[in-house]
Amino acid sequence: DLSVNICGVVCHSPVAMASGNAGYGLEYQAVSGFHNQDVGAVFLKGTTLEPKLGNKPDRVWETPNGLLNSIGLQNPGVDYVVNQLLPQLDYSATQYFANVSGSSIEEYAEVCRRFDQTALAGLEINISCPNVKKGGAAFGNDPDMAARVVEACRASTTKPLIIKLSPNQTDVAEGARRVIEAGADALSAINTLMGMSINIDTWRPDLGNNQGGLSGPAIKPVALLRVHQVYQVAKHHDIPIIGLGGVSCAEDAIEFFLAGASMVAVGTALAKDPLLIKKMNKGIARYLEKRGLQSVSQLTGKLELNT
Ligand code: DOR
Repeated sequence: DLSVNICGVVCHSPVAMASGNAGYGLEYQAVSGFHNQDVGAVFLKGTTLEPKLGNKPDRVWETPNGLLNSIGLQNPGVDYVVNQLLPQLDYSATQYFANVSGSSIEEYAEVCRRFDQTALAGLEINISCPNVKKGGAAFGNDPDMAARVVEACRASTTKPLIIKLSPNQTDVAEGARRVIEAGADALSAINTLMGMSINIDTWRPDLGNNQGGLSGPAIKPVALLRVHQVYQVAKHHDIPIIGLGGVSCAEDAIEFFLAGASMVAVGTALAKDPLLIKKMNKGIARYLEKRGLQSVSQLTGKLELNT
């Protein structure tokens, strides 16, 4: 049994698809070998009140250790998502979470309100996008602003709220504590880490936006430490953590569970291997069996620190 319970939402697998991977869950259907039903949850692309075109190209740049992106929250706006895209999803196969973004507290709250009467399992509140000038990570890196955003979202929906944390906060534990007090039901950690790559012929950054968010194997150690730090706070409030950042195989997922995650999400690695989720589900099941464990929850937070 690979199922996990994320603040009341039962997911059949502890592996989710991270936001930004397959738009609104439809894009990947055409890729052979991948099915939404393989993942325990799909986190849909960040959604704002109005449609957004995003940043100028190039917006994705591959480096040897990970992927830089500066998409800038390109999305068709919440009304199009609610009316045109959400009705096309197969809700029997997996759990769907929206990813709510905005440049003001009011915008976050309004997007939550418009998602409230949908079939979604819950809302991920993205206070950590590194690629927008207003809102995003600027809110997530400021504990007061983060708490105000979460309070406003909490007042706008009865759906479970998962707060997506920034890796760039100075005091991660304090940041987690404040959003939990403000009404978070779960946390996800981490969003991408700010980075840059440079073309030595043109002497210009490779990304049109100059800088972007780094994902992939390079950020896994950062993500693991963040999950461990956040868990030290979250465990006292019974708040589950979805761990993400460079998860590429079943063994990576086990590390995140030990650090404190109840579920993991995959992003960059899935773009390279559509069969990854199936392989990870098998690998995690084999590990549990080998250790005589009945569920992933028996691994969560079981890390033993060296003394
Ligand atoms: O790396 C990211 N890119 N994180 C986000 O939260 C949003 C996304 C984008 O659209 O730029």
